[in-house]
Parts: sequence; C-alpha cells; structure tokens
Amino acid sequence: MMHPDLFTSLTIGGIHLRNRLLRSATHESMAEESGAPSSAHEKLYTALAKGGAGAIITGYAGVQQDGRSSLPGMLMMHDDSLVPAYRRLTDPVHSHGCPIILQLAHCGRQTRSAVTGMKTVAPSALRDRIFNEEIPRELDEEGIRAIIASFAAAAGRAARAGFDGVQLHLAHGYLLAQFLSGYTNRRRDRWGGPLENRFRIVSEILLRIRRELGDYPVLAKISAYDRRPGGMRIDEAVGIARLLEASGCSAIEVSSGTVEEGLSIMRGPELPIEPLLACNFRFAAMPMPLRKFMTPLLRLGMRLPEPVTNYNVEAARAIRRAVSIPVIVVGGIHVQEDIAAAFGSGAIDCVSMSRPFIIEPDIVRKLQDGRRTASRCIRCNYCAIMIEHGPLRCWYGKLPKM
Ligand SMILES: Cc1cc2nc3c(=O)[nH]c(=O)nc-3n(C[C@H](O)[C@H](O)[C@H](O)COP(=O)(O)O)c2cc1C
Repeated sequence: MMHPDLFTSLTIGGIHLRNRLLRSATHESMAEESGAPSSAHEKLYTALAKGGAGAIITGYAGVQQDGRSSLPGMLMMHDDSLVPAYRRLTDPVHSHGCPIILQLAHCGRQTRSAVTGMKTVAPSALRDRIFNEEIPRELDEEGIRAIIASFAAAAGRAARAGFDGVQLHLAHGYLLAQFLSGYTNRRRDRWGGPLENRFRIVSEILLRIRRELGDYPVLAKISAYDRRPGGMRIDEAVGIARLLEASGCSAIEVSSGTVEEGLSIMRGPELPIEPLLACNFRFAAMPMPLRKFMTPLLRLGMRLPEPVTNYNVEAARAIRRAVSIPVIVVGGIHVQEDIAAAFGSGAIDCVSMSRPFIIEPDIVRKLQDGRRTASRCIRCNYCAIMIEHGPLRCWYGKLPKM
C-alpha cells in the first residue's frame, strides 16, 4: 500500500508540490548546440507534468562554458540570451499544474576540455580516474569569485524564465561536491580544510542569490557519502545539511556517490558492459577485437556497489533529524513498498526518482491510481551509458550491434 500522505500537497520553500513523488534531475542529452531546450525537451517535460510528477527537476544546466558536461546536449543557463527559450519548458509544465525546478551545475574536473574547449578546473589539481586525460587547473580566488557570480546569475535567469526554483548540484562529484569533499579539496586557504571552509563557496552562492533574488526557492542535492579515501561521510553530510539550512537553502535532496566510483549513483544488479564497450568515449575508439577482449576484464575489474536499492534512505533520515527544512530522498526507490517505507518513516518529506520516469513518464499517475505497484525499470543502466550517444531513452533490448 502506498502511504496515503504521499499524494497530498506540500509547500517547500514557497513551491507548492501537488504530491511528494518527484522527478529527480536527469540529463537528457537533448539540448540545442546553444544549450537551449529543444522540442524533444518540451515533449518530455509535458509528458512528465501530465503524468503526475509532484515536481520536475530538470537535467543539470551549466552555469559556465568551462563547466559544461562532456555528454552531448547539456542544458546551459550561462547567458541571458537563453532565457526566452526556457519558456518552452516552464509554460507547458505549469499548464499541467506541475512546478519545475532548474538544476544548476558546474562539472569541474568531471568533464573534458576536448568538449568544452577550455581547461578543466577544480578546487585542487587532482586527476580524475574517469576523466583522466588531463590534470585540472586549481581555481584561484578570481576563478572562484567568477563561479559564485555565474551560479547567482544563472539562478536569476531561471527566475526570469519562469522556473519555480533552482537546485544547486552539490552531489555526484561535480565542482561544488569537489569543494565539499576532502578527497578532492586539498586546499589550505579559506576555501579548503575544515568543513566550514569547504562549504564557503556554497554559502557565498546562497548568500548572493538571497541578496539578489530575495526568498526565491533554492534547493540543494548532496552526496551524503562516497567511498573515496578521505571523502564524504554521513556525519559530515549532516554538518553540510545544517550549514545549508543556516544559509537559507529551501530543501535538501539526498543522493550519494561520485562519477569516479562507477555506477554507484544509479545502481543496478549488473554492469552495463555492452553499452560501455559500444559507446563510452574511453572504449569506442578501440579496435573491435580489443573491445571484445575487454569484456571479461571489465566484469572482473568493476565492482558492483551495494546495496542496489534504497541506498540513501538511512543518510536522508540522519539528515532529516538534524534540520527542519524538507528532505527529499533519491536512489533505487522504485517499488511501492520501498516508496512507502522511505516516506512513511515519519521523517523524510519527499521521494524522488530518475530512471522510472525514463521508461514511464506517467509512473506517478500509475502508482497513484493503482495501475502499477512497481516501476518497469530493471535498472540495467543502459540509459546512463547511452546518453553519451544520443537523446535519453530506455535502451534495454535496443542496443546497436557491436
Ligand atoms: C540517465 C541519467 C542521467 C542523470 N542525470 C542527472 C543530472 O543531470 N543531475 C543529477 O543530479 N542526477 C542525475 N542523475 C542521477 C539521478 O537523478 C538519481 O540520483 C539516480 O539515478 C538514482 O535514482 P533512481 O534510482 O531513481 O534512478 C542521472 C541519472 C541517470 C540514469
């Protein structure tokens, strides 16, 4: 049974949610070259809004060109000229009674200069195991100031484009997560060291948005833990949540992991070896016999993160106990009992999902009226690999032949 309160409304930071089951940010590889949303976006977002999502959080939108994703078709919000184009998302979504929140991100070292045309940047000059072609440049004071200004300017554009709020992407090893985690932030100045210093860039962004946009809703998505040496732990994430609340954040979505850890952010029962070898930028350039030879090696070498479901619920509960702002939990919560258990814990305010919406944009409506008790998604993660190749869709059983 679904928890009865799941389908009641809730206001978070001034955003009126029609229910507590949200679409978590999902990169769609659908944007125009300029970073503007496309007609494919418009179609997808309309379907999500019609399909009953409590709110939609967009795929990550870049705040600066050097922080653009290495994946194709990233939304961008780095320039005033993009503002009018976003009305093609906000207007139809609102006409179906659904709020829409723009996720803002800078990829930091988790991108490639071959794609951005610019040197990658990070809090510290440390090579990333996945994006390891180059060592990123350590940001100086001026670079950090520019990034703070870019996040605030992008939030202003989001407000003008009709978004109900923005979500700062502090999760998954992107730039702001790189500042928060001791694994990637080795600085000894006021932007590194103790947690308050590592959090400074986020507090300055929030402060500036508050100064410029008053009480415009600003959510945050955090990785409550990663499995990197010296990296994020739940107790530190609780500290970050307290700092977020004190800095005026409207709500916190709790995720975990970094891209460098492999598929720990979006877990599944098996490794997506076939699409990795067919399309991932590291393997696609290799001759076919070598790629085939790699299959068993990959199976041996890549450890599957566990547990596969409900992996952020415990962290979200710990965070919810420490703050009074709403907490959203995401991560392998795809079946009725799990959604009800996460939500019904009496603490967590909302549950969000990503992959279930890819295969069924109307999954919330179906859960609500009893047509489904679980998502049809089998968490093969082909979608997550194949967005390197083209627009987001469910690829299970539909991969191109190697
Ligand atoms: C194809 C794909 C793209 C994603 N893009 C984003 C993104 O842009 N921003 C983000 O915060 N998380 C992103 N995620 C992670 C999801 O929001 C979510 O945290 C993760 O998939 C676990 O939730 P799930 O089990 O409901 O899929 C993405 C996940 C997938 C599968």
